[in-house]
Formats: sequence, structure tokens, C-alpha cells
Amino acid sequence: MLALYSQLSFELTRFKASKQSIDTLFIGGGTPSTIHPTLYKPIFDLLAPYLKTDAEITTEANPNSATKEWLEGMWALGVNRVSFGVQSFDSTKLKALNRSHTPSQALDAINHAHTLGFKHISLDIIYNFQGDTQALLESDINQAFSLPIDHISAYELTIEDKTHFAKTPEVKQENDKLALFVAESIQKRGFQQYEISNFGTYQSRHNQGYWKLENYIGAGAGAVGFLERTRFYPTPNIDTFITNPLTITQEHLTSDELLTERIFLGLRSNIGIVKETLPTEIKENCDFLVEKKKLDIKNGRYYNKDFFLTDEVALFLLKTT
Ligand SMILES: C[S@@+](CC[C@H](N)C(=O)[O-])C[C@H]1O[C@@H](n2cnc3c(N)ncnc32)[C@H](O)[C@@H]1O
Repeated sequence: MLALYSQLSFELTRFKASKQSIDTLFIGGGTPSTIHPTLYKPIFDLLAPYLKTDAEITTEANPNSATKEWLEGMWALGVNRVSFGVQSFDSTKLKALNRSHTPSQALDAINHAHTLGFKHISLDIIYNFQGDTQALLESDINQAFSLPIDHISAYELTIEDKTHFAKTPEVKQENDKLALFVAESIQKRGFQQYEISNFGTYQSRHNQGYWKLENYIGAGAGAVGFLERTRFYPTPNIDTFITNPLTITQEHLTSDELLTERIFLGLRSNIGIVKETLPTEIKENCDFLVEKKKLDIKNGRYYNKDFFLTDEVALFLLKTT
């Protein structure tokens, strides 16, 4: 925590953070629920003057380590949103996903959080894992909606290098119909889709901050920060991070790279793309897609009508440059 504390202090200076200017705080990456709340206290004390009074403060949690005591401790620190990494309520699938919690631990943890007073409770599910069927996902979504949640993130399984499934990529199932089925099932139950993987009666301000390319501090080994057009990468090597937390590499984005990111992020969410920020050719392509009813335009912003077509639409828009 000491390394994290000193990197965070450094970043608050680098970002010229002013009092009550931080809108959201997200504790994630790794398993925050394996760390006792008292160990977070110095971080919260450091950040307290910079946090807005209505800041959205989220912690990720794994059901098996998000004990009642842990949830109470995080609540006492001021955390007001919990995102549970449930992934599925099917115990066979959980084992295959190499997750160490049980469906009942997920139910208990979420109900504990609700009883404690957390208004914003989210859960994550993963789909298109080998063997996934509409019936299995329907049952997971039914179970999810039997709980006091206001947000679901439904992620399509991705195979990332150096992760558990990197050696067995065949566990990734290709089924676009299932992706649509999941999105429709969740929306049918009243949660609005505000991004390709995110649904809710509540929309996470932290997630939206990323998609608006707002500045954000990334603290911790393997985190990512963003300031204006520079991305910061604290070392992912935990030992190096502990010995020298300011081991941070930088990436300066060109105007074209920023434009491309704005277009992809704006199309895959309800953030949209601001017309006036676009070069003429791309504006013309957008207007063409508005005519073809693929994009909407409202208050000078273009909005994607189908988040699942983001790649195709973005490539069409960018093809001029
Ligand atoms: C992205 S964060 C969750 C953020 C949270 N949904 C929120 O709204 O604040 C962590 C989640 O990523 C998802 N995830 C982790 N590894 C994944 C993978 N290989 N493929 C797809 N999703 C993955 C899991 O659902 C995990 O709980």
C-alpha cells in the first residue's frame, strides 16, 4: 500500500488535482476484496480532500472474499458502489472458468451489500464460454434480476495473453446470436444498454469517464492513467512497483489516434461523437449513415443505433483518412 500511496501522491501533483475535483474512484484490478479495509484507510485519507461530495466510489469484489465484515469496512470508508465478479450462477461453469466462489456465496454477498445500504450494486457475467447456451444465460440473467442490483456488465469472453485461458483458446465460443440474446434479455427486464457490455437503471459515471476520454489517474502496478493526450503505464511488475512506484512509461497519442479512439468509444456507448470535432470527410460519412438509419444525430452528436456494429461503422467512417 505504501508504494500505491506514494505513486498516488505523485499523480495528484502531476494531474494538478484541486480540492473536490475527483468525480469517481474505482478500486479494481486483481481482487480488492482480499485486502482488509483498514489497509485502504491511508489511501482514502489522502484522497478525501480531492473527492467531490457526491463522488461515485466503486470497488470490485469477488463473492468468496467479500465477507460481511469486508463490505461493512468498505462502506465505512465511503464506498457507495460495489461491482461483484459473479461471472455465472452455474457452479459447473464457475469451476470451468476457474472461479473459486459458489453461486450461493454470490447471492449472500449481494444481499449483504444491499442490507448494508449499498444503493449501487452491479454484477458481472461472462458469456460465449464453451458450452454456453441461451438456456444457461437465461437462467443466469433470471437469477441476476432476482437480486437487488441496478447494473449488469455482460462481457463476451476474450482470450488475453498470459492469462488462464491463453493456452486453451478453444474455450472461447463464437456465437454472435448469443451476444444479441444476452443484450435483449437484459434490456427486456428494464436495464438500458448504455455500452456494448453495460446495462442498468444506473449508469456508472466511472465507466463513462473512460469512454469520454476524460482525464483519469491510474495508480497501482499494471494500472493505466490518461492526461490530455498522454497515457501513463505504471509498471505491471509488482516487485518493481513496490521498490520504485514511479516506474511509469508514457505513450503520447497523435491527433489521429485520439480521433480514432473517440470514434470507437463514442460508437460503442451512449456517449456518441461530437459532430464539430470531426474532419469534413468523416462528417460526410456520418451524415450518409444517418440517412441510412445506422446513426442518429441529436444536439450536434452522432449516436450509434447498434453497439454490436461498432467496428463496421467505425471502419466505414475512418476509411477516408
Ligand atoms: C472490467 S472489470 C468490471 C467493471 C464493472 N463491470 C463495473 O461496471 O464497474 C472486471 C471484470 O472483467 C471481466 N473479465 C475478466 N476477464 C475477462 C475475460 N478474459 N473476458 C471477458 N471478461 C473478462 C469479469 O467479468 C470481471 O469481473
